[in-house]
Amino acid sequence: AGTLGAQAAQSGRYFGTAVAAGRLGDGTYTTILDREFNAVTPENEMKWDATERSRGSFSFTAADQIVGHATAHGQRVRGHTLVWHSQLPGWVGAITDATTLRSVVRNHITTEMTHFKGKIYAWDVVNEAFADGGSGARRGSVFQNVLGDGYIEDAFRTARSADPAAKLCYNDYNIEDWSAAKTQAVYRMVRDFKSRGVPIDCVGFQSHFGSSGPPASFRTTLANFAALGVDVQITELDIAQAPATAYANTVKACMNVARCTGISVWGIRDSDSWRSGENPLLFDGAGNKKAAYGAALSAL
Ligand code: XIL
Repeated sequence: AGTLGAQAAQSGRYFGTAVAAGRLGDGTYTTILDREFNAVTPENEMKWDATERSRGSFSFTAADQIVGHATAHGQRVRGHTLVWHSQLPGWVGAITDATTLRSVVRNHITTEMTHFKGKIYAWDVVNEAFADGGSGARRGSVFQNVLGDGYIEDAFRTARSADPAAKLCYNDYNIEDWSAAKTQAVYRMVRDFKSRGVPIDCVGFQSHFGSSGPPASFRTTLANFAALGVDVQITELDIAQAPATAYANTVKACMNVARCTGISVWGIRDSDSWRSGENPLLFDGAGNKKAAYGAALSAL
């Protein structure tokens, strides 16, 4: 097939992109979006600071625009993200009482998931909960510091109740290299969740790579997580300077793992990227296909 989404669909996978609501009025952007991609992830519009700026006051207008566009164009939606230390309003970070914070987190998850119920393929329930470096420790955050380790499983149980049809994912970066302590720590958590019946369906590998692309062990990492009984997905792919080989290697890593169900890039044109100085995407600023586009398409 001649597009990323159609080619991915031939093996039952999706090929998605991050979408910004503010760009839906740009015809060059939406032309590429609707031609090439069969999945979308709101880049910022479902985050806590966008959806519950003050306690109990929810607004989903920008996210609704993206979900409406996706629905009209047959694109799946990845919900991103419910519990994350970043882009978190100050009022949440200021909570020091565990009972209060637990109820605030549960209400946030339940209200947001209920609003989008039936429209979301997979939710990034918890994002980036582990620290970088060799410790394998949890990242410090208001959730970790006030609620302790149990906050992640509580979030997943709450999410399952709110929308039983949505796949529930843990999402993180720097967990692509099998030998990394952070990868091992996330692996142990997922293994523990599966063994105790904590509801988790998928693990998202953000895959924000440097110009050398994915680590050599990436396919092994995806396969080892999948063997725990979860789907795996490449959720936020971008690669500094977008070398064609690095993109091809990333796509192949997913294609070689049966339970790797989809790949999403983190934006359409280089000019749309949060790393725009590194030109890390598949289309240039004018919307032309780059070499990496052809390499990715051929590897699907
Ligand atoms: C980024 C967005 O692309 C930016 O627009 C925003 O300013 C910051 O967040 N990990 C994630 C994504 O899970 O939500 C982040 O997105 C990139 C890193």
